[in-house]
Amino acid sequence: MNTGEVLRIEGLKKQYPGVQALKDVDISFSGGEVHGLVGENGAGKSTLIKILAGIVKADEGVFRFDGKESTISSSKDATRHGLSFIHQELNLVNYFNAMENIFLGHTYPRHYGPLVDWKKLREQTRTICDSLSIDLPLEKPVSHLSAVQRAMVAIARAFAVNGRIYFMDEPATALTDVEKEKLFNVIQSLKEQGKTVVYVTHNLDDILRITDRITVMRDGQVVKHSRTSTMTKDSLISAMIGKNLASAFPPKTGTIGKPLMSVENLSNSLLRDISFTLHSGEILGIGGLVGSGRTELLETLFGVRSVTTGTILLDGTPYRPGSPGEAISSGVVLVPEERRKGGLVLSRSINENITLMSLPEVSRFGFLRHTHLRRKALEAGRSVRLKASDYEHHVDTLSGGNQQKVVFAKTVMRIPKVLMLDEPSKGVDVGARFEIYSIIRDLASHGAAIIVVSSDFNEVLGLADRILFIREGGMTSIHDNEGIDQEQYLHYCYGRTHA
Ligand SMILES: Nc1ncnc2c1ncn2[C@@H]1O[C@H](COP(=O)(O)OP(=O)(O)OP(=O)(O)O)[C@@H](O)[C@H]1O
Ligand SMILES: [Mg+2]
Repeated sequence: MNTGEVLRIEGLKKQYPGVQALKDVDISFSGGEVHGLVGENGAGKSTLIKILAGIVKADEGVFRFDGKESTISSSKDATRHGLSFIHQELNLVNYFNAMENIFLGHTYPRHYGPLVDWKKLREQTRTICDSLSIDLPLEKPVSHLSAVQRAMVAIARAFAVNGRIYFMDEPATALTDVEKEKLFNVIQSLKEQGKTVVYVTHNLDDILRITDRITVMRDGQVVKHSRTSTMTKDSLISAMIGKNLASAFPPKTGTIGKPLMSVENLSNSLLRDISFTLHSGEILGIGGLVGSGRTELLETLFGVRSVTTGTILLDGTPYRPGSPGEAISSGVVLVPEERRKGGLVLSRSINENITLMSLPEVSRFGFLRHTHLRRKALEAGRSVRLKASDYEHHVDTLSGGNQQKVVFAKTVMRIPKVLMLDEPSKGVDVGARFEIYSIIRDLASHGAAIIVVSSDFNEVLGLADRILFIREGGMTSIHDNEGIDQEQYLHYCYGRTHA
């Protein structure tokens, strides 16, 4: 078992138009370690990983594998060096099924001659899935799979290679806690086999829990490198953002106004008899376990799912949206959990994405006022601390977290009546998270009503005025957010009214 240095990178540089993504990075990885890589959105983490994968070409830099200098100029080179990857964007081919995606780029098992041995391929896929204790529909195109399943396909693909170093760029953002634990178990066993895992995430609790060493990057440089046992959450945060963060949540500001949306006995195939009244200026948190129906509730209010029985009043008039388009024109907006899929047009510019929903507002006499449009987009981008060198660039040139900020920028261009946020801070760095919370508060103090779904109960407790708990599609209780502690919160999630 090799516990020495397996890969050393020296003087790595990468320039993109308008931004030096990597300035001069030195970093090394050892056998048998879990190595955390953290840093603000746009710090350069994914760029480093894409260079190692042979997807992006470095401008300068030396790679030493077991002390021997080598190059990486294609994904074949990366594979040859035993590097395996779970990319932040998953990089799945949508119309291929899970099995084809898992073996993409590997040699398929074959019969004599060129014929693929599908039976063997299926067996091998099953073995990988079993080792991860996951159950995936193997024959369906991955575009038909859920977010969790797609993430598991990308993870299974990384483990289909017998690698030496596994790079995982935000592998768990779409996973439930249960799947995340499975992933952590696999990481642990890789480590015991003397392999290296490089783990990138904005979830600092996870980083502190599973890693042996941590490298912190800021603005394309390594700013700190330590053993995990010597780090705390606070020391990590201050290394990441270069300052201390006094409090995780901005203080409450505005007051709660008149009723804006009343939901009465709402039911459909996934929800049962849900009733609540949402006031202007109010932030309502939805508590519940994964799969309890939280996202389904938001989707129903957004016209993605239909209502079977029950009534909804918006500003006193009946509201029953048949589509997201109808919801948006009534002033009801959803920022979905999977923002890349639901919230953005990746092949369009940042400007276009931010202003997509506000076109009527910025057009006059039917003409788009481009200067005005650009100015508004820039203001909105600044308010979420979007890090982009040029707003005319396509959204897919942004770092993962900055893409999410574009969705928020788009939302704040026009104050919605009801804004629903599903997992608002996933993949967003700690500094920007505070900005996003401030925006949420700000929108509320301008009279918007906000609904927040989050698996992070601290986020719900830190933001919400009231919390509605649901379980198995039914509402169990609703509480003012005063003096609820974590234990009580979990009790409510499980549907017990008395903690
Ligand atoms: N294809 C590209 N074209 C232009 N600029 C790019 C491209 N890819 C990345 N960048 C820029 O390089 C910088 C580093 O991005 P990178 O994706 O490495 O950040 P990151 O640390 O992974 O951030 P996050 O936590 O948000 O995923 C960012 O400023 C980003 O906008
Ligand atoms: Mg990234």
